[in-house]
Amino acid sequence: MHAAKAAGFSWCPFLRLKRRELKAILESMEMAERYKPFQVAKRKVMEKYGLLGSRADRLATALLYKMYRLQGVLDDVVAEVLGVEVRRLPAYLRQSYRLAAYLALYDTGRDSRLAEQLLDYAARVAAARFSDSEAERVEKLYRVLRGGKWSPSRDVEVELRLLLPPVIVKRLFKLLGSMDEVERFASAVNNPNPIYGLRVNTLKTDMEEVLKALEEIGVEAWPSRRVSGHIRYRGGLPYERFQPLREGKVVPQDESSAAAAPLLSPRPGARVADLCAAPGGKTTHIAELQRNRGNIIALELYGDRISRLVDLARRTGTYASINPVIGDALRASTLVRRADSVLLDPPCSSTGAIARHPEARWRLTERVLRQLAARQYRMLKEAVALLPSGGRLLYTVCSVMPEEGEYLISRALEELPVSLVPLHGPYDASPLLPGTMRAWPHRHGTTGFFYALLERR
Ligand SMILES: C[S@@+](CC[C@H](N)C(=O)[O-])C[C@H]1O[C@@H](n2cnc3c(N)ncnc32)[C@H](O)[C@@H]1O
Repeated sequence: MHAAKAAGFSWCPFLRLKRRELKAILESMEMAERYKPFQVAKRKVMEKYGLLGSRADRLATALLYKMYRLQGVLDDVVAEVLGVEVRRLPAYLRQSYRLAAYLALYDTGRDSRLAEQLLDYAARVAAARFSDSEAERVEKLYRVLRGGKWSPSRDVEVELRLLLPPVIVKRLFKLLGSMDEVERFASAVNNPNPIYGLRVNTLKTDMEEVLKALEEIGVEAWPSRRVSGHIRYRGGLPYERFQPLREGKVVPQDESSAAAAPLLSPRPGARVADLCAAPGGKTTHIAELQRNRGNIIALELYGDRISRLVDLARRTGTYASINPVIGDALRASTLVRRADSVLLDPPCSSTGAIARHPEARWRLTERVLRQLAARQYRMLKEAVALLPSGGRLLYTVCSVMPEEGEYLISRALEELPVSLVPLHGPYDASPLLPGTMRAWPHRHGTTGFFYALLERR
C-alpha cells in the first residue's frame, strides 16, 4: 500500500497536484542533490516544465528549504528506523527517504496533503526505477514514524530537538556552559525570521537618510546599539526597489561582521592587507574608515568572487583605495610585501551563520573541522609574517567552534611572535580565552562570530 493511502488521507480535489507538477517537484529535489546551490537547480527544472512561480514551484522551494535544514537529522532517523545509510543511496532514493521522514515527523499543515501525494508518487517512481522493495521501505518508514512506533536514541532525540548535530552541540556546551543556553542558541538559529543588517556608507550618506528610505518602503528598521553606523531590520528588504543599495550608500552586512573593521582601527594612509577579502564587506568598510585614503591589498583566491568585490568597491566609491589581487592567502608572504595591519577572515565552518546556510551544519564532521583549523593556522602564520613589530592583525571567523577560534589563537600565542590585544566589546568575552570576543545569535541577535586582535612583538 502506498504511504498516503496508509495514512488514510482523502484528497480535496482543489489540493490535487497534476502529474507534471509531481514530476517537476521530484526532479527538482533530485537535481538539488547534484547541483549547488539548490535554489538554482530547482529553478532550472521549474523553467523546463513551464512552472516557474507556480504552486508546484512554491511547494518545491518550501520543501527543499525545510528538508535541507533538517537533512542530517532526517538521515539519522532513517538510519535508526531502517538501518539504511541515506548518504550512500542514489540521489533520487536519498530524497525519497528524506521526504518520507520529513512528512511523517514534521508536516501537518495544509500543504501536507499536496506533499503526501508527492510521497505516494515518489514511491511509485522508486518502484519503477529501482525495485518494489525500495518503494515498500519508503512507505514503511513513513508508517512507522507517522504511527509513533519509534523512539529515538538519545543523540537523535537531541538532534530532533535542537536541529543541530552532536559535533556542534558538544562545542556549544563547552562555550556556553549549560544545555539551557545551547537550546536558546538553537532556537535563535532556527528562527525563520532573523534580524538582518545594513552598514551605512558614511562616505555617501548618513544614518538618518537611510532610516527614512527604509521607512518609506515599510521596512521595520532601527540603529544598532553596538556598532556605530549600522542599521538592523526585520523581514524582507526588496533589494531592487531600495535605491540606497544600488547607489552603494548601504552595504548588506550582519552587525557582527560590521563590528570587525573598527576593531582594527585603520588610520587613513595605512597599508592594510585583507587576505580573504571577497565579497568585500569588510574591505570596503576598512576603506570607509580610512576616509577613502587607504592602501588596501585585497587578496582573494577566486576570480569570480573578486569580481563581486570589485563591483562592491565601485558601488561604494572605495575602489581608489583598494588593490584587488587574485592570490592564495597560504602564500601571502610571497604576494604581499608588507602591511601595517592585516585582516584575516578565512573560510570556516560557518557554524555562526547557520541561520543563513540551512544545510551547512550537516556537512561538518570532526575531520572537516580539523582540516579547516589547520588551513586557518597556516594562513595566520602567513599573516603574521607580513607585519612589522607593533603591527596588528585582526582574526575573525563566523564560527562557534573553539578549534577555529580560541584553540587556534592560544596556539598562535605560544608559537608565533604575537601578543593578544584584549578586546572589550561590543560583544562578550570568550570564557575559553579571555581577551578574545564572541558575538552570539541568541544573545546579540546576529551571526555568531569570533574575534581576536593580535600585535606583532
Ligand atoms: C569568510 S569569506 C570572507 C568574507 C569577507 N572578508 C567579507 O567580509 O566580505 C572567505 C573568503 O576567502 C576566500 N578564500 C578561500 N580560500 C582562500 C585562499 N587560500 N586564499 C585567499 N582567499 C581564499 C573565499 O573564496 C571567500 O571569499
